[in-house]
Amino acid sequence: MINLGILISGRGSNMESILNFLKEGEVTDVCPKIVISSKPEAEGLKKASKFGIPTSIVSNNLKGWDYDEEIVNTLQKYNVNPDNGLVCLAGYMRLLSREFVRKYKMRIMNIHPSLLPSFPGLNSQKKALDYGVKVTGCTVHFVDEGLDSGPIIAQRQVAVLENDTYETLSDRILEQEHILYPSCVKLFSEKRLLVEGRKVIVT
Ligand code: GRF
Repeated sequence: MINLGILISGRGSNMESILNFLKEGEVTDVCPKIVISSKPEAEGLKKASKFGIPTSIVSNNLKGWDYDEEIVNTLQKYNVNPDNGLVCLAGYMRLLSREFVRKYKMRIMNIHPSLLPSFPGLNSQKKALDYGVKVTGCTVHFVDEGLDSGPIIAQRQVAVLENDTYETLSDRILEQEHILYPSCVKLFSEKRLLVEGRKVIVT
């Protein structure tokens, strides 16, 4: 059984897509244990409660490992450990410390609204529009010590339309995110993700 912890900071629609997917029962060996938010006002907290998942808020001015230690303590309190856990970042607006990443090596996933390595960081949809790319999309990757730089698990493409705005493009990417992220959680739970250097081989 994989014990799942989800970290959010805002809307929580990706979290919701994962929780819905698990509720549908297609994957039975992933158990959502805790949703942790870095922001007390995160909309996603209410959504998590509707699923009956415990929630916790870690909101203070600490940085780096001083902050993350509280996250890790909370994960472990809910039995999301480096040997049995998966941590999904879903709109989590903080960089993870090296200590946290190393502790949960290749057990932390993130979803990003571009085809990495293009447009890492914030406002990726705007960067894609401004650059004039014809295709963008979303990426799920394992988290390493860099910014949106870990081994890529899977991606989905989205065409950029001539009349796209930030909102229309973001909405279409988000639709794809909601398909992509649960599918990666499933692959992880089936132990089908083999990481070799930068490459994730889906077995
Ligand atoms: C998504 O676009 C995700 O790719 C990015 O932040 C946004 C979070 O949205 N990391 P939500 O909170 O999951 O609705």
